Amino acid sequence: MSAGAPMDSAPLLGERVGVPDADEVVPAPADPRERGDVLLQVSDLRVSIPTAAGQVHAADGVTLTLRQGEVLGVVGETGSGKSVTCRALLGLRPTPRTEVSGTVAYPSIGVEDITVLPSKRLRRLWGRHVAMIPQNPMTSLDPVRRIGDQVAEALGDTVHGKAARRERVIELLRQVGLPAPERRLDAFPHQFSGGMLQRTLIAIAIAQNPALLVADEPTTALDVLIQDQILGLLLSLQRDLGTSLVLVSHDLSVVSQVCDRVAVMYAGQVVELADTATLLSSPRHPYTRALIGALPGAVARDEPLRVIPGAPPPLVGLGPTCRFAARCELHEEACDTWATELLTIGSAGGPATGTASHQSRCRRADELAAAPPTTQHQGEQR
Ligand SMILES: Nc1ncnc2c1ncn2[C@@H]1O[C@H](COP(=O)(O)OP(=O)(O)OP(=O)(O)O)[C@@H](O)[C@H]1O
Ligand code: SF4
Ligand SMILES: [Mg+2]
Repeated sequence: MSAGAPMDSAPLLGERVGVPDADEVVPAPADPRERGDVLLQVSDLRVSIPTAAGQVHAADGVTLTLRQGEVLGVVGETGSGKSVTCRALLGLRPTPRTEVSGTVAYPSIGVEDITVLPSKRLRRLWGRHVAMIPQNPMTSLDPVRRIGDQVAEALGDTVHGKAARRERVIELLRQVGLPAPERRLDAFPHQFSGGMLQRTLIAIAIAQNPALLVADEPTTALDVLIQDQILGLLLSLQRDLGTSLVLVSHDLSVVSQVCDRVAVMYAGQVVELADTATLLSSPRHPYTRALIGALPGAVARDEPLRVIPGAPPPLVGLGPTCRFAARCELHEEACDTWATELLTIGSAGGPATGTASHQSRCRRADELAAAPPTTQHQGEQR
């Protein structure tokens, strides 16, 4: 358990950058972008939140690898553990009594496990190595502080001198497509539209050119046109800056358009992980197949929309067996005694490794290669 990790409220934007104490100063980390290294290695991450109903296992055995410059999508229904998992990438936990096990390593900067770092060290990594773009732009900025000051604060001590800092703030706001940024510095958040606020939050996140951006549903609160603009902006920044990106969404069509690889989460677990093209063309978990089948373009105009019947289980007191069983059209008796594990697809010649592998948490994954698409329609139950 990571007793020293701060609770969820820690990464207020203004707090993100801390000037280290003299005794904490260490040499600047080597920039992993220069070497194309593994940037992030999540191993068997478990986040368990004590509640009145019992321990909520919000992330349960998540294992992921992300390389420099990669865009990883994390997709799943509400409550599947996307946000809890992503916040753990920054060393955050939802409540002070939350238990965390497993490791979240950033090998290229010598961080073996961010979940056990004390808050002082975390603050030095936030903004500089990893930054988060929050879900709701309307509530993520301080309403009584000027936009320019909030962006300037995110620069930390990377730019010195009032004029130089002002120039850098203007440059950042221009980079994220805010029109006439020099005239917006004195504005307050309530004078900005949702899209402008989200651009400002992205400017704050990239202020110190972090190696990893974690964007938790960055477009959910925005209308469709602005959503496309913000996604386009994130991708162009990711390409221009060489940043790695973890993009969280409940919408598979969004992540499949922009991500190199996709992790599908269900009830606190990654149930499938693959490169995007493989995931879409050859999904090997019934839940992923059902998600693809439920995409608007998956049915003819005169057909009813496909839905996934039932609801995910509460994340309390779950055993080792398949959590999707109650909703699965391929469920059979043997599933009820199979302790789930992430299987590597096509591993007959030895397990695939690293970011190229295709993994599924279904004991019938190999059979799915030849299985027809999911057929459940609105209202049908297994
Ligand atoms: N502070 C908290 N206290 C108690 N339970 C929590 C807390 N934060 C998250 N949870 C629980 O952890 C589980 C995972 O939540 P999480 O927010 O990660 O889901 P999500 O996949 O991000 O959902 P959404 O798509 O709605 O954002 C849920 O069951 C949620 O109720
Ligand atoms: S293990 Fe069984 S119940 Fe679970 S997803 Fe696979 S087929 Fe369905
Ligand atoms: Mg969430």
